[in-house]
Amino acid sequence: MLHQFYRLSYFSVLFVIISVVCGNNERNVMDAIFRNYRKTVRPVLEQNLTLHIDYELRVYNIISVDEPDQHVTFLLWTVRTWKDQFLTWDPKDFDGCTTVKVTSDQIWLPDIYLLNTLDIESISLTDTDYIDLSYDGQIRQLRKLKAQLSCVMAIGEFPFDTQICPITVGLWAYNYSELILHLRFPVVGLAPYNGDPNFAPIMGNNSEFETVSFTGVEVTSKVGLFSYSELHYSIGLKRRPAYYIFVVLIPSYLLTSLCIIGIFTPNSNINERNERVTLGLTTLLFMAVILNIVADQMPKGKEGLPLLGIFVLYEIGICALAIVLSTFIIIFHQRSLTRDWKPPAFCFWISGVRTSKNNCGVSPANITRNRALAYERVSPDGSANRVIDKNVERQTALLQSVCSMFQGAIESTEKRLQEDEVKKYRELIWLTFFDTIDLVLLILLLLLNTLISYILLG
Ligand SMILES: *[C@@H]1O[C@H](CO)[C@@H](O)[C@H](O)[C@H]1NC(C)=O
Ligand SMILES: *[C@@H]1O[C@H](CO)[C@@H](O)[C@H](O)[C@H]1NC(C)=O
Ligand SMILES: *[C@@H]1O[C@H](CO)[C@@H](O)[C@H](O)[C@H]1NC(C)=O
Repeated sequence: MLHQFYRLSYFSVLFVIISVVCGNNERNVMDAIFRNYRKTVRPVLEQNLTLHIDYELRVYNIISVDEPDQHVTFLLWTVRTWKDQFLTWDPKDFDGCTTVKVTSDQIWLPDIYLLNTLDIESISLTDTDYIDLSYDGQIRQLRKLKAQLSCVMAIGEFPFDTQICPITVGLWAYNYSELILHLRFPVVGLAPYNGDPNFAPIMGNNSEFETVSFTGVEVTSKVGLFSYSELHYSIGLKRRPAYYIFVVLIPSYLLTSLCIIGIFTPNSNINERNERVTLGLTTLLFMAVILNIVADQMPKGKEGLPLLGIFVLYEIGICALAIVLSTFIIIFHQRSLTRDWKPPAFCFWISGVRTSKNNCGVSPANITRNRALAYERVSPDGSANRVIDKNVERQTALLQSVCSMFQGAIESTEKRLQEDEVKKYRELIWLTFFDTIDLVLLILLLLLNTLISYILLG
């Protein structure tokens, strides 16, 4: 019984001692490795040795793309691994302890930098940034960064553009002979991770942009006596044009079509035409606002207006052309009425009044002559009435004078009526002529609008 008790206490004491030693392992490791550690010294045993760093970059998200200021904000994940030759220990001396966690302010860190960054922000959940360290000095540091990178945008094809943005990773202080960067994964791709150890997937997508390519190469850049190791990534972002199609393109097309239809709808009189010029001008104003929306999103570079801007400009041009043509029609229509122009032959042809062609050349003078001839034929002054007595003759003379008086009155009334008739007829001819012109222009401009839209965007 006593023997059993001693055995039990022996084991428990042993257990307690072992657990205390295990808990102290990490501390012992820390004490051992940081005894003479200097975090500003490049962690190589000989000064002439080169330190190799494996770098992995993942684009987790595209936060925003700013075209006028030409920069893109990414959410990046980076993994960098290297071997710190001063931070090694033999696990056998520390009861098999193989990994410890150190903080980023305790150890030497490479000054890896995103060279084309405008602003960078490390996103960290905790105040301390822990790093894995294994007994052979292998260090693995993960970081999450929000980086705003400059990216020269080619907006000529906007909104059907694809932007290629560089992400340049480089070292700031160390020469190529001292530090070399390597791609952790030689192949960088868009597909999800498939277990291939040589493959790094990227995740980046955005509501407006879609990542279509991602590549990386190792580059050595020379600056005077120095050479620097760099990694040049490039990410292809393809814009999803739906927003611009629904907000700018379709409204512009419809507005211009409405402008044309409104201006050239036939059966309009002069006052209505003025209304239609107002309509055209309102449309122009609205289009100018749309153009402004497009222009505001673009960098004011040498490329000038992008495709969408040119499209809106063409739409404005078509609407303006419609207004100008309509104004000319108003002028000519008005003049044709006020100056009492005789419609030329082609008017009749265009107006489709070919059957009444004879009436066209009829001038008021002609008509009066014809009418006068007709009256002479029916007047009492004919050969049939020669043998009539004096009395009757006097009466007849009286009657004749009255008759001729009436005849004059009738003739002048007839003449005026005839003139009115001709005038009205001419007005009708002009009206139908300009109506037909309206219809032709309406169709032509609608076709032009569709054609230009198709050529520019099709
Ligand atoms: C580095 O320098 C040491 C002497 O300091 C020399 O023994 C060694 O060979 C050199 N190594 C290389 C790679 O040049
Ligand atoms: C930098 O590294 C390059 C390539 O290894 C070497 O030729 C050059 O002499 C180094 N320059 C300095 C100043 O160490
Ligand atoms: C990004 O979008 C593309 C195309 O829509 C899709 O194939 C891909 O799976 C998306 N990637 C992610 C990480 O959602």
